[in-house]
Amino acid sequence: ALVSLRQLLDHAGENAYGLPAFNVNNLEQMRAIMMAADKTDSPVIVQASAGARKYAGAPFLRHLILSAIEEWPHIPVVMHQDHGTSPAVCQRSIQLGFSSVMMDGSLKEDGKTPADYDYNVGVTREVVKMAHACGVSVEGEIGCLGSLETGMAGEEDGVGAEGVLDHSQLLTSVEEARQFVADTGVDALAIAVGTSHGAYKFTRPPTGDILAIDRIKEIHEALPNTHLVMHGSSSVPQEWLQIINENGGNIGETYGVPVDQLVDAIKHGVRKINIDTDLRLASTGAIRRFLNENPAEFDPRKYLAASIKAMEGICVARYEAFGAAGNA
Ligand code: G3H
Ligand code: 13P
Ligand code: ZN
Repeated sequence: ALVSLRQLLDHAGENAYGLPAFNVNNLEQMRAIMMAADKTDSPVIVQASAGARKYAGAPFLRHLILSAIEEWPHIPVVMHQDHGTSPAVCQRSIQLGFSSVMMDGSLKEDGKTPADYDYNVGVTREVVKMAHACGVSVEGEIGCLGSLETGMAGEEDGVGAEGVLDHSQLLTSVEEARQFVADTGVDALAIAVGTSHGAYKFTRPPTGDILAIDRIKEIHEALPNTHLVMHGSSSVPQEWLQIINENGGNIGETYGVPVDQLVDAIKHGVRKINIDTDLRLASTGAIRRFLNENPAEFDPRKYLAASIKAMEGICVARYEAFGAAGNA
């Protein structure tokens, strides 16, 4: 059944678990997520980014998710729009039947330039008004995502200038989080606590606390009724990097957020954990390996089945680690 984000996160909050929110772009990702949820009896959050809409088209994405609901009617599914860059974008998703939207007003409409507080409040408040009138949940974001190690906002290829964002921008303050929720009425709040998007989060193996766990805890205490969201939460599995590189790939040394630190964040109030990169890495690794080991094979269903299986493995592991398993 299609449910709102608020419904699922309220249950997660009451029962102290976290929900992975996986990005979906194609049939293989959709099936991997649902097969894993079915196996582990987990509720599902799937999210479509602007890139996904550009790749697959909004109607296809919508019907992919609706098809999943039809095939697995016993699993609650949130159809979430990831990183909306304007109220107009969110409005279109609401009209298409999404049950949850993210208005990311931490950045300007270009999706790159950090925006000021008043801009963020203005656009987010507008979306909350629209969405809540339709029973749709809203996620907002306060603070700029970026690695506390490098000061970088996160890069596609790992090359870029260091120290683009200063330390205060990279950490959401308790006071601005409290004020933002009071000013907008969002259901869920994405905070900046040391993660960044993409595969290049940390240049060294993360030892000790790489997340600002104390800050998460303080924000959760100040906002017990707002569900906290952590973007950039891929773990960048070293085994998949190795498989990619052993089968013709070339990805440099890089690290993500270890799963045990995500579990720690859940203990302190994080309820929605966004994961995209890990499924991309698993899919690419599985396809590279399959084609390398089966050079005469040309039926896409064969290598795409390997891709589904690899992504399903990641999803099962996250549903179990986050405590979502058994809660569908
Ligand atoms: O927030 C970023 C997600 O990983 C989506 O990335 O815009 O390339 O689909 P994308
Ligand atoms: P990763 O790049 O760490 O998977 O983060 C995805 C994300 O935050 C999508 O909104
Ligand atoms: Zn994100």
